[in-house]
Order: sequence, then C-alpha cells, then structure tokens
Amino acid sequence: MKKKLLLLPLLLGTVHTNAQKVTVAPPTSDASRDIALLGDMNLTKIVNGWGSLKPNKSIDGNALSMNDTIYTSGVGAHATSKIIVKINGATRFVSRIGIDDEVIAEARTNPTQYGVANYRVSLKGENNDLHVVQEGTIQAGKPSFSVDVNTNGWKYLILETFAGVGDNVCDHTNWANAYFEYYARASTPPILVSEEEISSKLACATKVYSQPNVRFMQKLRATNPKATISVEGLPTGLTYNAKRQLIEGTIAEEGTYTYNAIVNNDGELATEAITLEVSSKLQQPTPFMGWLSWNVFEEEINDEKVRQVADAFEKYKLNDAGYNYLCIDDLWHATSRNADGTPAYNTTKFPHGLKSVVDYVHSKGLKIGIYSDAAERTCAGCFGSFGYETQDATAYANWGFDLLKYDYCHAPDDAETAKVRYKTMGDALKATRRNILYYMCEWGPREPWKWGAETGATCWRVTYDSRDFWDWGAKADAGHIGAIQGFDGTKNLWAYGGVNRWNDADMMCVGLHGKGKSSSHDAATYAQLHGTKYTGMTQTEYQSQFSLWSIMASPLTLSFDIRSINNEDLALITNEEVIAVNQDRMGVQGELIQSDGTFDVLVKDMENGDMTVAVLNRSNTTKTYTLDMAKAYMYTDSTYIVRDLWQKSNIGTALGHYTMSIAPHETKLYRFSLPTTTGLKKMATSKNKLKVANNDSTIKVTLSDTKGFRKRILVSDLFGRVLTQGTTTDESLIMPFDAGHGCYVVNVVCNGKSQSLKFKR
Ligand code: GLA
Repeated sequence: MKKKLLLLPLLLGTVHTNAQKVTVAPPTSDASRDIALLGDMNLTKIVNGWGSLKPNKSIDGNALSMNDTIYTSGVGAHATSKIIVKINGATRFVSRIGIDDEVIAEARTNPTQYGVANYRVSLKGENNDLHVVQEGTIQAGKPSFSVDVNTNGWKYLILETFAGVGDNVCDHTNWANAYFEYYARASTPPILVSEEEISSKLACATKVYSQPNVRFMQKLRATNPKATISVEGLPTGLTYNAKRQLIEGTIAEEGTYTYNAIVNNDGELATEAITLEVSSKLQQPTPFMGWLSWNVFEEEINDEKVRQVADAFEKYKLNDAGYNYLCIDDLWHATSRNADGTPAYNTTKFPHGLKSVVDYVHSKGLKIGIYSDAAERTCAGCFGSFGYETQDATAYANWGFDLLKYDYCHAPDDAETAKVRYKTMGDALKATRRNILYYMCEWGPREPWKWGAETGATCWRVTYDSRDFWDWGAKADAGHIGAIQGFDGTKNLWAYGGVNRWNDADMMCVGLHGKGKSSSHDAATYAQLHGTKYTGMTQTEYQSQFSLWSIMASPLTLSFDIRSINNEDLALITNEEVIAVNQDRMGVQGELIQSDGTFDVLVKDMENGDMTVAVLNRSNTTKTYTLDMAKAYMYTDSTYIVRDLWQKSNIGTALGHYTMSIAPHETKLYRFSLPTTTGLKKMATSKNKLKVANNDSTIKVTLSDTKGFRKRILVSDLFGRVLTQGTTTDESLIMPFDAGHGCYVVNVVCNGKSQSLKFKR
C-alpha cells in the first residue's frame, strides 16, 4: 500500500516541481583506474547548435539537471551538436543523455516540437570504420538514458545530437556526468578534437595550371595544419619538397597530368587526386590588369567615356605597364532585352553601338570587358543573364568582348545553385569559341576558390565591394569593406590561388582620392564624424593596397578616372618592379606567414628563385619589425641582397634577419635575392646587352658574353602567354615566331637569374 502511494504520483508525472532534487557526481580516480571528465575537456572543439558552452553547466549556464537529478559534471550542449573525443587508449565511456529540465516549461507549451531531440553515440576505428553504438530520442521531462560504451581498441568516440521530430527549439541536450576510464600509467587521457583535426582533407587547389617550360610551384596544405602530406605519381620534371610541402619544377610537354596527394593525419590516410593542366593557351596565365568603370562612373558610363579612357591608356602608356583590359561594368543596358530575347544596350549611352566602341578599344591594342549577372537582374537592376546565357554569350562574342564579369546579385544563396549558374555561363562562353576571360563575382560567401575553376572561370572575387577607406573595423559589413577588410578576406586563401585561378580582392582604390561614386558613398558620414572633408585614403595606404594586391597575385584593376592621372599616382600604378611581383609567371599567391594584429607578413616565391616579402604595419604608430628570414623560407647561411621595390634600389644585405621601420599603414615590399655566382655574374654584367631581332616568321634573341652558360629563353605576349621558347648555351638563339603586330616580352633565365626586354613588332 505504502509502495503504491509513492509510485502513483511519479507515474502521473505530477511531483516534479516539488520533488526534492538529488545531486549525483561522477566517480573519481582510484587505484584501479583513472577518470577523465568530459566536462573538463577543451569545449572549444565542440560543434554546438546554439548558445555558448560552459564547463559542467547547461547551455543556459545552470547546474545540469534532468528528471530532478542534478549532475555535477558534463557537457550541456544544444542540438545540433557534435563532440569528437580522441580516445587515446581509454577503455570505457559512461554518461547519461537527456534534455535539461530548464526547458520543461517551454516544452510543455509545445511538447511535440520543443525539447525533443535525437542522439547518437558512435565509435570510429583506425581505418575510418564507423560503428553506431546507441541512438534514440530524448525529450524534456522524460527519463534520461544511460550510455555505457566499451571504447577499447577504438580511436574516436563521437557524441551527436540532432533535431528530433520537432523544430530544434529548446533542444538542450546534456551529456551528464560523462566520463572516461583510462590508465594514466599506460596512456595519455582522452581529449576533444575538432572535425577539421580528424578529417584529412586537402585545403588547397586540386585543379592547377602551368605553361610549358615555365617554372611551376604548388603549395599543398591540409585542413589540419599538423597533418603531413606526401605525393605520388608526379610527372617527370616535378619534384616534391616535403619540408615545405610544395611541388615544383617545369614541364615541357603540354597536357593534362594527375598526381596524388596523401594526407596523413595522425595515422589516418586520405588520398586526393590533383589535376595539372599544362598549356600555352591558358585564359589567364598571369593575373589580368586593367580598369573597371564602376567605382568612378557607375551609370555615367557611355561611348565617349570609354573612348576617352582608351585614349588615356595610350597617353599614360598603361598598356606598356601591363594594363590591358578596359571593362564596362553595370548599367550599359537598355531598359529591357530586344523582342527576340537578345541583350540590348542603352542607345543614348552608346549611340554608335557597342561593336563600334569595342572596335575602338581594340584599335588601341587593348582588350575590353562587359558585365552581367547570374540572375534575372544585375546588382544595379538591369536585366541579368539567367535563362539567356547562350544568347548573351553569343552577343558578347559578336560584339567582340574579351572578358565577362559575372555578378551574383538577386540569385539564390546556396553554393550548389551558384555552381550550376556559373557553369552554365562558362559553358556558353566556351561555346562561342571566342577567348572571353571569365571573371566570377559572387564576392566570396560561397567559397568560389574551391570550385570556381570547374565553371570555366579563371578568377573570382573573394570579397565584397572594396571602398575607398582604409579600415571599417567593427563597423565592416558587406557594404563597407575597406582596404584592410579586402586584404583580410584574401590573405588566407593563398593555397587556392595560382596560375589561371586567381583570387581577386576587387578593384583597387588608388587614384580615387574620395571622388568615387558608391566606392566613396560614406564621405558625408565621414565628414560628419571627423569634421574634415573626406579625401579617400592616404597615399601610403593606396601604396599599401597596391603592394598587398600585388603580392597576393590578385588581378590588378584600377577604378579611378584615368583620363587625368597625377604624377604621384602614375608612378605608383606603373612601378614595374612591383607589377613584376604580381605578374610573376610562376603565379604563387603570397603566403601569409605572420598575422598578429599589428603585422601581416607575406612571402612570395618568385620564378627566378628570389623571395618577395611584404610587411604591413596595421597600427597607427611607426613600428620596427625584424624579419626572421628562416620563417620566410630563406637560407640562414647565405647573405641576401635586399631590394626595396618602391625605392627601386638595393638597400643592403641580410643574413638570417632583416630589420625595418614601418610607418603606420605602410607596407614594405622587399625582394631578397642571392648574390650572383659566376654564371649569374655574366648575366648581371651583360645587362642592357639583351637584343631582339625578328622578322615575319622568326625571332633572334642575343645575350652577349654568355656563351657556355645554359639559358632558357621565353617570348610571351603582355598577358604572360609564352609564344615561343628554347634553350641554348650560345649567345644567340633563333626561334620560330609568327605573332602579329603588338608588344611582346623576351625573358632569359640563366642559373635562376632572369633578364627581360619588352619589344614591339
Ligand atoms: C556589385 C559588384 C560591383 C559592381 C556592382 C555593379 O556590387 O560587386 O563590383 O559590379 O555590383 O552594380
């Protein structure tokens, strides 16, 4: 009778609120075994659906409580959550799993939706074999479940909670009094690890490009920086530098090569295939350089302005400096398409038609780009290309365009749709058989550096629109990206950038001086806040942006009114030594080797073996920085010559370390080279003796005083494409060369030292 009286209220579930709570604790270590508590481990490794995890507390920060029992230890998570424990030889895991009492009230209001979750306990072995041990549904106010797992011989224990039938609301899932038994004498305690740490994936490009006989370099990286990487099946000409985790060498024969990278992550092996395409017909062998109409003209773009800008390219010799593409951005459109669906341009802005303006730009030896969007409308509201890809690509090709910037406003958010839409346009462009450089512009949220190359694109924006401001700090958002935010959004992606697959940090703001349109649209707010007129960034900041964009191998695009350029800006944008860093044909994106909030340090391997180093001082005071050259992959027993690329002069030598003083927001850009050996000396003393003579079908390249030294001679166009090449130990070499009129570059490499000469024919 007594018994009955006691049980009845429990069954009816009515005594919970008044019941006296029982407190239970997990066991402690004793002579027979040691105890490791889950709640005391590094909770930052846990993937958690909502709220922030606190050691041994519920997700709301209360004592862990289920069914009127208080648990002194454990992890109070929120579904969807994933806890991965590296078992390290522990033999047993014990826990209770249930929903915390703190959500009972909410769960009662909606018992089938709130406070209902599923859980799963699994074990993973050495060979990635996954074994589900226990799973089920837990509910607020219902009894928790006991979990008791023999973990002997397994590598990882995985504890997961998911939304159940309900809405994943109030799913406060507790692993209460969770502990492991292990033997401290025989093994280290179990630890929490993150998904990245245990998954052995490459975190670098897997589709890479090179030109025949141009030095190639690919840096391999894995999601877990501690993983080691080896390679197998490298084609002849390439070798693997395991210490630096990079592949390097040259391949003479065009073709598609594959090799494997094997990621060894704490004994777990994963093999991924990498495809290398070696071709002399790459769309974008070096980052494209040019000008875009958006920042300065927006809706004012028209025929006259395009022609004037083309004239300015000529007047200021921007083409000779490497700027080849003049791009018409948004708002060239008529209000709607033609009746047959083909794209129509605004006839007031372009009274002679787009073809005429394209022909004019081409007559200046320049290429010309156009803009569209992978949705019904462009960012500025004109008609987009979605559903009209073939018609549009055909029209662009017929008009004679050489580049398409393809935006992503008004399109669905998910990456899968973006991939399909970009590929559709990529295929349409390919089908035109015109070489149209395909420039993706989805700004980065869908990580285009991982899949852009599959769509046919050869560069992709990785940041939102760059503004003529240095740093928006905490106020930065999609509409307010300063130079610093553009840099921060690009600097970590170095293992994904490379030849024909460039990460684009957006138009540079050099030359705008606060006179841009939407690029400077916060000028009024600025004036209000600071009481001074906004005049854009300082010249030091513009120079920093140029340095950083150059070393990151971002396309170099200008966005100011280049019809009139002052001398200071002209000197900045045409500095051939800085541009040479950007245009280096090996195409490595500068690797970020330090980023500590004050200094960002990037190092870029150059084709001739030099190292270019950029050091940015983000702070507002002048700072001294000492570069540890070993960290920048330089030899510690060799003295390097240090060249300041902005001063264009050698400023000293360095052995092991190099100290510099950097003004606020300044970027030092130094090129480190090893002194010349005998062969190299010949190259140095023969400076200015490089000569080119060519006729309709051949070219003769002569470098006097170099007989007996093996030289590699490459002749390319201004886009970096190698057109003819050969090797010789003589002073001269005659090679077939039937390119048309234009500007070309001859490049002679001897013992890693190079000389180049630009010539017209
Ligand atoms: C987006 C792009 C910009 C520019 C505008 C045009 O914002 O990111 O670069 O093309 O659209 O509307």
